[in-house]
Amino acid sequence: MNFYDEISSQRSARVVDFTATGESVCNLLIVGCGMIGREHMRVATLLGRARVHGIYDTEPVSISEAVRDFATYSPQKLVVYTDLKSAADDPAIDAIFICTPNFSHFEVLQKVKHTTKPLFIEKPMATRLDDAKAMVQMAEEYPTFIQLGMQYRFKSQYVDAFHEIRKKKSLGAIKTIAMSEYRPPFLTKVRQWNKFNEFSGGTLVEKCCHYFDLINLMAGSRIESVYALSGQAVNFIGFSYEGKESDIHDHAFVVMQFAGGIRASFTLNMFSQELYEELIVTGEQGRLLAAEHSSFSSGIRSRANVMVEVEGHSAYEGTEVTYPASIETSGHHGATFFEHEAFVDQFENKPHDSASCEQGLWAILAATAAQESAATGRVILVKDFAAEHGLNDVLSW
Ligand SMILES: NC(=O)c1ccc[n+]([C@@H]2O[C@H](COP(=O)([O-])OP(=O)(O)OC[C@H]3O[C@@H](n4cnc5c(N)ncnc54)[C@H](O)[C@@H]3O)[C@@H](O)[C@H]2O)c1
Repeated sequence: MNFYDEISSQRSARVVDFTATGESVCNLLIVGCGMIGREHMRVATLLGRARVHGIYDTEPVSISEAVRDFATYSPQKLVVYTDLKSAADDPAIDAIFICTPNFSHFEVLQKVKHTTKPLFIEKPMATRLDDAKAMVQMAEEYPTFIQLGMQYRFKSQYVDAFHEIRKKKSLGAIKTIAMSEYRPPFLTKVRQWNKFNEFSGGTLVEKCCHYFDLINLMAGSRIESVYALSGQAVNFIGFSYEGKESDIHDHAFVVMQFAGGIRASFTLNMFSQELYEELIVTGEQGRLLAAEHSSFSSGIRSRANVMVEVEGHSAYEGTEVTYPASIETSGHHGATFFEHEAFVDQFENKPHDSASCEQGLWAILAATAAQESAATGRVILVKDFAAEHGLNDVLSW
């Protein structure tokens, strides 16, 4: 099963009848109820196939915000745990969502893995490649499952782009992949962890692991080499927190060579007013463009479009593929909703196509190699780079 077996409108039609009507099968614990933890609480409730049983967070302000927010859409009682161990060990909890800052995923995982409960870990899986390697090894032996929060693959325009290119093969053999994101600066976070390379893993790891995942999946082959330019041009210059100056990058250009002759690029700019994501893939038969335009200003819905410039194609001049409003507005333009559907499917031993730890490692390997290239000015040969980090025994080339 692939996430692009259905097109976005078939997905939407299929889930509309489901929404919040069925019996929930799975009681969730949300660890870290900041911005994305609250999104998971909202989306799980909307989908209605899992139920948020309890939350745990180290910051009282995040707990009160989550409790207040939850009460606006759910009459259910929420258990607020005061320590992670009793939360994770509570027999009432069936599955655990780790939604803490990037640098803490590995540490939290160490504290909950003994439960062997199904786990969801937000992206990026880790800030260090050796921790990510240990997670891949752990996932192989884990009695239940670990799903990663790489939900961009469920955005409507990418579902449809993959359907055209990988299922219908509308472009023939693909040759080039160009991905870009233009967006406003990083948002405020609890203790501002995302303004620092040390805590976030660096911008290409933190934010852009999503795009490296998409490029890897679209290429369908292994990344061979990468060259990148990246820096801090506008955002958070002079910003400091607890005496430490922000060093987070706000723009990058990355070029990549994949096995099989596929060439790819990724452009990031984080000092734009609006959010604009674009994927352009070219093949022997033509070009596909998948784009999303949205605003961080409230009240403005996103619009997702796909254009397939192949002779005679019905979407030659473009077609809108935005999910219905109830799904699109629930978080990350509907992608989180379908990520939750995949999680509960996996929980119920049904076919699913969510991100595995190995796919997460491939994404942060590409991102880390790009960051290394930007730091050193060298082209990075990814297989050698992976070997230097001891990764080749968990990655199959
Ligand atoms: N998949 C996506 O599209 C997406 C989007 C946003 C964020 N994220 C990821 O989600 C994670 C959280 O991001 P956020 O935006 O919610 O950040 P945030 O700062 O808004 O929230 C993080 C929360 O975790 C809590 N926390 C920190 N350490 C903890 C610990 N050891 N135990 C329990 N709670 C702890 C903080 O108090 C805070 O409430 C990050 O890894 C981020 O990269 C993913």
